[in-house]
Amino acid sequence: MPAITRDNVYRLYLDFLETAENKRGWSIFNDIPWNELDAARATQTTGQALELFCSEEMYVPDYSSNGLQLVRSMFGMAWFQTRWAFEESRHGLVFREYLTRSGLRSEAEFAALESCVFANLWTLPFATARQMACYGALQEGATYAAYKAQREKAREAGDKVLEAIFFYVGRDEAAHGGFYRALIQLELAQDREGTIADLAYVFSKFKMPGDGLIPNYKERLVSSGAGVTPRVFLEHVVWPVLTTLKIGREELKLALKKLAASTPSNLSPICGRSAARQPRLTS
Ligand SMILES: [Fe+2]
Ligand SMILES: [Fe+2]
Repeated sequence: MPAITRDNVYRLYLDFLETAENKRGWSIFNDIPWNELDAARATQTTGQALELFCSEEMYVPDYSSNGLQLVRSMFGMAWFQTRWAFEESRHGLVFREYLTRSGLRSEAEFAALESCVFANLWTLPFATARQMACYGALQEGATYAAYKAQREKAREAGDKVLEAIFFYVGRDEAAHGGFYRALIQLELAQDREGTIADLAYVFSKFKMPGDGLIPNYKERLVSSGAGVTPRVFLEHVVWPVLTTLKIGREELKLALKKLAASTPSNLSPICGRSAARQPRLTS
C-alpha cells in the first residue's frame, strides 16, 4: 500500500474511533432499559430471529483472527479491525442477554447453540483487503437494513428493550459500513477501474457470513422474518453504496459484463473431459 493511502487509512481510523468514543458509545448495562423487559411480549418468532442474528455475530473469533491476519501490516486497518471486533462482540452479547433474560432460551440451550456455532469455521470469502472492504460495505449495509426493520417491528410490538437494542446495534453497523465506504473511496482514487472490478466481483458472489455456516440459514431467515429481500438489498444497500462512491450503475453493470466475459464457462464439454470447475459468478 503506498504511503499516502497508508496515512489516509490511519486518519480514517482516527475519525472512526473519535466518533465511536465520543458520540456512539453505549453500554449493555446502562443504556438498555432491562427493567422494562416484558417476557410476555417475547414471541418465539422473535427468539428465532434473535438466535440467528446472535449466531452470526458469534463468529467474532473467526472474523477477527482472519481479518487481522489479512491487514496486520497496515496500522489503520489492523486497529480498525480490533475496534470493530469489540463492537461486534457487544452485539452478540446483547442478543444473548435478551434471549436468556426473556426466557426465550435457557443457559443450557445457549450452551448447545455455542457448540453448534463453533463447530464450523468462518474463513475469508475474498482474498484481498480491497475486496474485503467491498464485502464489508455490502455486508454491513445489509445487516443495518435487517436491524432497522427489526427495530421497527419492536417499536410496533411495544418492546422497548428490543427497540433500544436494535437502535444501538444498528447504529454501529451503519458506522462500520461508513468506514468501509470511505476506504473504498481511497481505493477508487488510486485505481478506479480495478476497484470497480473488485466491487463487481464481490457483488456477484455476495452472501451473508452465516450463509453456509449456520444450518438451514436461508430457511431460518425466511421463517423468522430476520432477512431482507433482494429488492431491499439492491435499493437500500447496493444503490446507496454506489451513490456515495459516485459510481454509476452502468459502470457496475459494465464491470459485471467484463467479469462474466473473462470467466470461463462452467459448462462441461459435450464430449471429452470436464472443464476445471470455476466459481459461480451470479448472485
Ligand atoms: Fe454486528
Ligand atoms: Fe458490523
